[in-house]
Amino acid sequence: EPSTTPYEALGGEEVLSTLIDTFYDYVAKHPLLSDIFPIDLTETAYKQKLFMTQFLGGPPLYTEEFGHPMLRARHLPFPITKEHAEAWLTCMQQALEDVGVNPVVCDYMMERLTLTAHHMVNQPNNTP
Ligand code: HEM
Repeated sequence: EPSTTPYEALGGEEVLSTLIDTFYDYVAKHPLLSDIFPIDLTETAYKQKLFMTQFLGGPPLYTEEFGHPMLRARHLPFPITKEHAEAWLTCMQQALEDVGVNPVVCDYMMERLTLTAHHMVNQPNNTP
């Protein structure tokens, strides 16, 4: 029997969709993040759902539609500091709690997302 993927452990498409929508509600309200992101987050949330599906071991939906993620390159147009990365992660942590994701799955996701978020940092901090 094949082992369960993190995508399945999370609850699959339905839970992931709710999680990402909840996450972008926090992003839209976050004082450090709201100015960087588009006002209409529909397309952003759509792409993040596709990406996160494959990130968590589900089907490669993002790559099928948009090609290789090249995440760091795709983030270079936006000045991202360590503070932005921490803010992004705080929004995700909050969303994971709101959706009631199993703590083991939550910890696993936050661990991997912390690495990815810090990989996106491309600017020194604003505050000394
Ligand atoms: C796109 C910001 C971290 C995945 C974007 C966009 C912004 C952004 C401004 C473009 C939105 C748009 O025009 O639709 C940030 C900031 C981060 C961060 C400030 C803080 C570190 C991450 C992380 C991941 C991620 C950790 C993955 C786990 C994506 C994806 C897209 C995206 C998949 C869509 C790329 C595309 O255009 O196809 N992000 N991001 N981001 N971000 Fe991030």
